[in-house]
Amino acid sequence: MLVLGIESSCDETGVALFDTERGLLAHRLHSQIAMHTEYGGVVPELASRDHIRRVLPLTEACMAEAGLTLANIDAVAYTAGPGLAGALLVGASVANALGFALQKPVIDVHHLEGHLLSPLLSEPRPQFPFIALLVSGGHTQLMAVRGIGQYELLGETVDDAAGEAFDKSAKLLGLGYPGGPALSKLADQGDATRFKLPRPMLHSGDLDFSFSGLKTAVLNLVKQQAELDEKTVADICAAFQEAMVEVLLKKCVAALKQTGMQRLVIAGGVGANKQLRNALDDAAKRHRFEVFYPPLALCTDNGAMIAFAGAMRLKFAAHSYSYNARPRWDL
Ligand code: KG4
Ligand code: ZN
Repeated sequence: MLVLGIESSCDETGVALFDTERGLLAHRLHSQIAMHTEYGGVVPELASRDHIRRVLPLTEACMAEAGLTLANIDAVAYTAGPGLAGALLVGASVANALGFALQKPVIDVHHLEGHLLSPLLSEPRPQFPFIALLVSGGHTQLMAVRGIGQYELLGETVDDAAGEAFDKSAKLLGLGYPGGPALSKLADQGDATRFKLPRPMLHSGDLDFSFSGLKTAVLNLVKQQAELDEKTVADICAAFQEAMVEVLLKKCVAALKQTGMQRLVIAGGVGANKQLRNALDDAAKRHRFEVFYPPLALCTDNGAMIAFAGAMRLKFAAHSYSYNARPRWDL
């Protein structure tokens, strides 16, 4: 089964070909980050227009890389939501047009299902069941994953997502967009002990998160500084990252304990964070669990995870063949 996957939910156009026998055959990505940087965030209308420009050339490049033609495709999968409505409609339109022209099934994929299955795209592959920590710009959730399509929400953020807190705090510190990678890079040079930031809901006893208070604490710290010199910015970055990592780590360990599971999967853009990975690797040794990450290139939005999730749905789970763009959609 050869599945073409299309991702266009936010500011990345991703296209990929996944074969259930041979694995990932090709994947192409165009990031719009440079285009949105001057506005300090994603401009939805510009995003939609750029997806339109990119999606077919990327599809052609994937076919060429795999040495295949559209006639070889068995199904087309696309991100139906959640995300920006106009951006989602681009992927939905192209996927459905291709499916109609080729007379092949079209599968609407939940963006978060794509993220949480993405660690299965590399070796070693985690076995089911596992706990998935989804940490992206739009979501922070802990899920118990017992199989394809069997997802139980254990906890989630009650306000900002982890990536959103990284991005907003970075903006307060005058760093570029997206702020997560920039903040993380500066944090490496900072002293995490100079400022103490709160660990929201660390002791709440449940598996929920809250990050808006952390962002507000950064705002207050910035206001208190007579001068925001390079060293101070790096120290605030380090304090922020340490607080964020401690909360994410503690809740992951609690989710493993609560469910008795021994495998943890990290997915979503914040999963690229080096300090988070180091902290999880250390905890995995101490608490005797295994931790899996998608390859760095597949941590942020991409078409490979959508092609893969589509292929898994086709093979193992129920799926609908409907034309969808769902800006808000619970997994
Ligand atoms: O999964 P993703 O590409 O898009 C969404 O579905 O949201 O995640 C993007 C988020 C952004 O908030 C970005 O700042 C964050 O992931 N991010 C990072 C790092 N790389 C990306 N946050 C912290 N450290 C990083 N290295
Ligand atoms: Zn995403």
